[in-house]
Amino acid sequence: MRYRLRRRGIDHGAVAPGARTTSWEACEPVVLRSVIPIHRARPSILRALRMIARLRRGADLASRLPPLPRGFRILGTTVNTGDPLEIHKLHLSARGRELYIKVNWLSTYPRDGSLRLRFSFGAEVLDDWAEDPVASRASDRLFERVFPASRLVTHSPAILRHIRSRIQAQPRFVQRIVYSNAPGGGAFFHHDYVPRQAGVVYAQLAGATGWIALPKRTLARQIQNHTRRWRDTRALLDYLDAPNPDRLHRLINHSPTFTRRLAKDGWFSVLRPGDSILLPSRGWDDVAWHSIFTVGRSPNLALSFGIRRKENFAP
Ligand SMILES: [Fe+2]
Repeated sequence: MRYRLRRRGIDHGAVAPGARTTSWEACEPVVLRSVIPIHRARPSILRALRMIARLRRGADLASRLPPLPRGFRILGTTVNTGDPLEIHKLHLSARGRELYIKVNWLSTYPRDGSLRLRFSFGAEVLDDWAEDPVASRASDRLFERVFPASRLVTHSPAILRHIRSRIQAQPRFVQRIVYSNAPGGGAFFHHDYVPRQAGVVYAQLAGATGWIALPKRTLARQIQNHTRRWRDTRALLDYLDAPNPDRLHRLINHSPTFTRRLAKDGWFSVLRPGDSILLPSRGWDDVAWHSIFTVGRSPNLALSFGIRRKENFAP
């Protein structure tokens, strides 16, 4: 089966999923099929899709939340007018901590309705979520209340078994995000490396997404095989992390021939409801980079969690 990949006005053509056996140790993405029993949470998934459809049409998240756990209180909503992607940010308090849910578009492309809800706390720029377990647990509790289907992922025996065997420890799920990719949308190539985080698990609950995912070093090699530019591998690896590497950005995100090249080499896969993908990260250069496309026209819902080793988490 081939999938037509279209994103932000560019048609990348039709590609077929690869049949690679991948390895976490090599920082390759690991797809896990049918590891989330979504049939057990249909009403919760439908409720989440309805809520997201309303957010897309301009509803305030505060008015769409279910009753909050005891001790949780809504403080108010803010909008950062300096951030073109932010829709709004809901501030809450719990156990003396301030939490937030940030709702933002994934792009400024006019016909791309892809959005995400990020649950966190503290100062966004400082990543201090890692240092405050009380706030972290409160944020997790809020996430479970708003998206109860998330327990199917964090408590999936198959997902837990796969992650445990790879990180040699019990996982703790942090940095919880809900994604709803829209037809014609998705995410450009990026990575999710955060120091002390072993990787990310992304779980598809509704709709389907197409993933071009591969280790950063392999991506660099593919770039060098595709074009005569960027012969210096060290410089290219650094350049991939630069905030706006124009020409390189255009090649890896907007070039249909480059997309098809990666797919042909076996780095393309499709996630359907119940599937999940593990994205390992060990450092700035040893991490799975990924580029996401929306497949089909069904409403899309997915959850993403950062993976930490439990013993590395402050008590
Ligand atoms: Fe990501």
